[in-house]
Amino acid sequence: MVIACAAVVAASTAVAESQFYPSHAITMIVPFAAGGPTDVVSRIVAEHMAKALGQDIVIDNIVGAGGTIATTRVARAANDGYTLITGHMGTHGAAVPLYPNLAYRPDADFEPVALLAGTPIVIVARKDFPANDLQQFVAYLKANTATLNVAHAGVGSVSHVSGELLNSILNIKPTGVPFNGTAPAMKALAAGQIDYLCDQIVNVVPQINAGTIKAFAIAAPERNPALPEVPTTAEAGLPAFQVQAWNAIFAPKGTPAPIIAALNAAVGKALDDDEVRNRLLALGSVIPGPAERTPEALMALVRGEIAKWTPVLGHAGK
Ligand code: MLT
Repeated sequence: MVIACAAVVAASTAVAESQFYPSHAITMIVPFAAGGPTDVVSRIVAEHMAKALGQDIVIDNIVGAGGTIATTRVARAANDGYTLITGHMGTHGAAVPLYPNLAYRPDADFEPVALLAGTPIVIVARKDFPANDLQQFVAYLKANTATLNVAHAGVGSVSHVSGELLNSILNIKPTGVPFNGTAPAMKALAAGQIDYLCDQIVNVVPQINAGTIKAFAIAAPERNPALPEVPTTAEAGLPAFQVQAWNAIFAPKGTPAPIIAALNAAVGKALDDDEVRNRLLALGSVIPGPAERTPEALMALVRGEIAKWTPVLGHAGK
């Protein structure tokens, strides 16, 4: 009886408090290094969300294990709306088959808040990589697998999972070099210390515009307006390589519905803001339409990713 009362009191207090949400700064955890695609998308949207919510949103980069360390921390955080995470196709999808003892369930330990942006994958290589198109790249890769390395942001990250898919399509196993995010990985690629990388377009566009790396193809059904000269993998002869990466906000399970609704509305306002849209589109992001912006749509996306990647990656986690 006492416990039941305590639960009712706690729930009503949380709901009561949600009326004044947010009453202080919110922490948004980014599970990868600053300056990378997940960080950049988070900061662009969070900046506008903070204005709509009237409180600061503090970005905290907590790295490691392909983003699963930070994601575990948020799964266990207080569900009061003041700790959020930007998860993605890896942390909230592909990590499941790759980490048999994963300490969280992406489709059960979180409240989905909203999808932020789609971030198609581009195959990029160091500037002096001896290939001028995807066919030459694939041929060189197959002939020199033993001496080539591919960067990624840790097991289960988008860049790792995309690299694993490419490996399985080409039946190759180059050396993987892990980083705490694709920001440092891209730096190593631009410096010629790494041979190639499958990365989210948001992190690729500035480097292509600066001429520091080369791009062979985008793993999407259509070319991207931010990289009009980069062919699709289908155009370039590797139609099987398709990866629709994305980044989204999640809160700990049990975060009150009015708080989720307020956060979701703030994301919606941000994604409708011209300045936010222009910044995201200039980096090649795909901005979700209204139907894709609901918490329910995000949960369906998470469940779809777990179902999709488990047969593709199940072997890799053993
Ligand atoms: C990042 O922000 O560094 C990426 O999202 C990492 C990845 O998943 O490849």
